[in-house]
Amino acid sequence: MTSLLKTIDSGKKAGAAAPARQAKPETIKEFEFTARDFERVRTLIYKRAGIALADSKHEMVYSRLARRLRATGIRSFEAYLDSLENRPDSEEWEAFTNALTTNLTSFFREAHHFPILADHVRKLSEPITIWCAASSTGEEPYSIAMTLCEALGTMTPQAHVIATDIDTNVLTTASNGIYALDRLDKMEPERARRFFLRGKGAQEGLVRVRPELRQMVTFKQLNLLSDDWPVSGPFDAIFCRNVMIYFDKPTQGKILARFAPLMKPNALLFAGHSENFLYVSDAFKLRGKTVYELDPSRVGTHRLVARPIEK
Ligand SMILES: C[S@@+](CC[C@H](N)C(=O)[O-])C[C@H]1O[C@@H](n2cnc3c(N)ncnc32)[C@H](O)[C@@H]1O
Repeated sequence: MTSLLKTIDSGKKAGAAAPARQAKPETIKEFEFTARDFERVRTLIYKRAGIALADSKHEMVYSRLARRLRATGIRSFEAYLDSLENRPDSEEWEAFTNALTTNLTSFFREAHHFPILADHVRKLSEPITIWCAASSTGEEPYSIAMTLCEALGTMTPQAHVIATDIDTNVLTTASNGIYALDRLDKMEPERARRFFLRGKGAQEGLVRVRPELRQMVTFKQLNLLSDDWPVSGPFDAIFCRNVMIYFDKPTQGKILARFAPLMKPNALLFAGHSENFLYVSDAFKLRGKTVYELDPSRVGTHRLVARPIEK
């Protein structure tokens, strides 16, 4: 349980970089980490996951990957990166990718989206299917599931949430559905009571998602960059929030062009607060703040025309 809780944090990895004041001076770093090593990491994670790491992430990358060097017993970044490059099927690729994702999330994050989702699903006939495309530790897909229960007036609606992420560690946490009690601090007490069980004794300070809610959500690994997506629509809504910011515009455009044919004509696409999809795809139009719908002029033809805007 303790190790579970370590992953349910503010998005930092366990053992993430200490504040700058406590950082070891460059000269006494445990491993040499050159500008070339950093460039190699950037290239590898960009090709693997689409994540474009900024220059400012140098220290973060060192701190997260130094743990992989310790775990694997490899004594230099150069040798570690060589071994990844030379063994494309190595299991270490998974740990490398998990180490470099950022998983910040919370229940009902960007709260204005959930009443919009509730209104949307009330107008639909069941069964309803929603894809949460970067679900992190699970707070987002469970918030979607809670909204479905509330909007449809039952703990067991004919509704299903497919929750995917590239990071296998966060998927394990999400699938367990166990959280530190303080993750519910901002949730209305009535909602918390309805959807969570409180731990007692050794589980004091923890909550578990109720089984009915857990059963509404299926977790799967999915790399948005991969050609092969193990999901099939059509979806009534797609949540793709706070992940596109890590991708460059051509990558965003390609992903959006693949979303369009997976959506029902009246489906909604929810984006993160700093993400703007209008400049990267011609398939969507804005419905409200960071909420998109398929452009009606494309509906029926979007399978053919949805494409990234070349920039
Ligand atoms: C900042 S979290 C956002 C979580 C949630 N959507 C939210 O808004 O609270 C970004 C998530 O995107 C995932 N991610 C990064 N690259 C990905 C990729 N190529 N395919 C799928 N998920 C990815 C990360 O593992 C991480 O859990």
